[in-house]
Amino acid sequence: MMHRVVSHALRNDWAPVSIAFNALRCPSCRALAPFGGRPYSVLPPTTDSEEKAMLDRMLRVDHAGEYGANRIYAGQMAVLGRTQSGPLIQRMWDQEKHHLQKFNEILAENRVRPTLLLPLWNVAGFVLGASSALLGKEGAMACTVAVEESISEHYNSQIRALMEADPDRYKELLQVSTRPGWAKVIKEFRDDEMEHHDTGLEQDAESVPGYWLMKTVIQAGCKAAIYISERV
Ligand SMILES: [Fe+2]
Ligand SMILES: [Fe+2]
Repeated sequence: MMHRVVSHALRNDWAPVSIAFNALRCPSCRALAPFGGRPYSVLPPTTDSEEKAMLDRMLRVDHAGEYGANRIYAGQMAVLGRTQSGPLIQRMWDQEKHHLQKFNEILAENRVRPTLLLPLWNVAGFVLGASSALLGKEGAMACTVAVEESISEHYNSQIRALMEADPDRYKELLQVSTRPGWAKVIKEFRDDEMEHHDTGLEQDAESVPGYWLMKTVIQAGCKAAIYISERV
């Protein structure tokens, strides 16, 4: 009994160490990074608390956006998953899963707290996705166009801000890398979101009744969500 308690305690004590140790490995080949190295970080070591706060804010809102996008596609799939549009929506969802996973890793690695509003975005995203899909394929696509346009514009303004601040310093975050699994973040994700937006238009988003009103309302919601997620 005593042996079991001790070995359990030891296992738990070592768990954080083993997680930290694994974080020092290359994600593709699992090789250990040089001592003190930052194996696949996309952020430079921050110089002051102001820069750290700025980057934390950016990562927190991006993570929240990708999280919300995942919930929207989950809601759409719950309604349209078994229809002809299912595979197309699933393909876009799979890309969102990749985006979210990358931000999960970046947040953990840089000890950035996610927004406190994830439970809200969980429900709101799913409800938005499912209710737009209840209007049919065109409704779901109109929702996709509205959301993806907002997210693309958001990424574009981040790209502009980082380029103006110091493009060299933030090159890992900005670049489109050719190394699989490594630093491919804002620009590549922005391109994916624009592709999703274009797919929505190709799939007759504009033919849903009340398209412009729907788009305006959803985009106002996205703006509010971005504003809040940067701050809370
Ligand atoms: Fe995304
Ligand atoms: Fe997207």
